[in-house]
Amino acid sequence: MSAVLPLVRELPQRLALLGTGTVGTAFVHRYQALQSRGVALPRFSWLANSRTAFRCGGQPAQELAHANRAARVVPSLQPWAEAEGLQRGDVLVDATASDEVANWHEQWLARGVHVVTANKLGQGTHWARAQAIAESVEEGGARYGDSATVGAGLPLLSSLRALVAGGDHIHRVEGVLSGSLAWLFHHYDGQRPFSAWVGEALSAGYTEPDPRVDLSGEDVRRKLLILARASGIELRSEQVQVSSLVPDALAGLPLEQALAQLALLDAPIQAYWHQAQREGGCLRFIGGVDREGACVGLRVVAHDHPLAGGAQTDNRVAIHSDRYSIQPLLIQGPGAGAEVTAAALLDDVLSITRT
Ligand SMILES: NC(=O)c1ccc[n+]([C@@H]2O[C@H](COP(=O)([O-])OP(=O)(O)OC[C@H]3O[C@@H](n4cnc5c(N)ncnc54)[C@H](OP(=O)(O)O)[C@@H]3O)[C@@H](O)[C@H]2O)c1
Repeated sequence: MSAVLPLVRELPQRLALLGTGTVGTAFVHRYQALQSRGVALPRFSWLANSRTAFRCGGQPAQELAHANRAARVVPSLQPWAEAEGLQRGDVLVDATASDEVANWHEQWLARGVHVVTANKLGQGTHWARAQAIAESVEEGGARYGDSATVGAGLPLLSSLRALVAGGDHIHRVEGVLSGSLAWLFHHYDGQRPFSAWVGEALSAGYTEPDPRVDLSGEDVRRKLLILARASGIELRSEQVQVSSLVPDALAGLPLEQALAQLALLDAPIQAYWHQAQREGGCLRFIGGVDREGACVGLRVVAHDHPLAGGAQTDNRVAIHSDRYSIQPLLIQGPGAGAEVTAAALLDDVLSITRT
């Protein structure tokens, strides 16, 4: 006998999705899976990428396929720029990595449109933009769902905010914040070239579309900024010291050429690996922030160090605070991948629509 599903309820709110790539596609699939289980969701009304925008007639997977078939032209106007028809109470999901889209977060929030984002550029870059977003949330009464931006939905931001709200004082937050770099340094054994592992991580969707964003430490810088700001630490982008893994010869190349020359990474990473062997430790790419400053880079840590553990794409974060002064609070779990990221986005959508 089949299980009795709860009645599908259509909420008055509407949902708009920006970005139809890896995460956007996983989002549409999860939306449909939840819908088929009878979960009450806002109506999927609109989706767009950098080339086109579609009104949805109840078949988001088909609209997604249309959007992804659209020709790549140089648009004179972003097709979504008007975000036409979005009203107070509607939900906009940002599954892009676009700075331009991040610039709109503040305006949508000010209009009372909830923003749920996997795009870190809203809160993870300029201090002024992060502040403007926070102020728009205050003034517009809409919510900002950002749990997909760090740890792909792990309870990192929510824990930090709960500690701060409970009067705790955060001293230091440090961790393995990049799922792709965690995966790379769990697998790299000094034998197979590092660049071959990078290619594999890219194909598996663990890295950003341009893996140099991960390897340069820029992605971790953004996550660290988001974590710091959630911890009440006023950290600015330029205050984070980042040690990039990308050699200069690779940094300036167009994406396609850079992907063909990833072997430039191999010798320096192998040298780091030999250093770790000599010191009896392992390599971990770590970002850390406290009231004195912040840094991001590759470190040799002992095998029993709190940040050495985990596996695959696990993020592992240690929170030191008044409450956790002797042993840090450790949070660990898968921190990369389209499915967990899409699930985090939908968690935020559901949390907004249920309140
Ligand atoms: N992949 C992961 O595992 C993961 C994990 C956590 C967070 N994230 C974050 O999720 C976001 C999306 O990642 P992804 O892997 O899905 O990237 P992706 O596959 O490259 O997809 C990006 C999408 O954004 C669209 N886009 C780019 N610029 C736009 C613009 N100006 N206006 C409207 N749409 C625009 C692209 O449009 P076109 O199709 O027209 O190019 C594409 O559909 C990123 O911010 C990333 O950091 C990803």
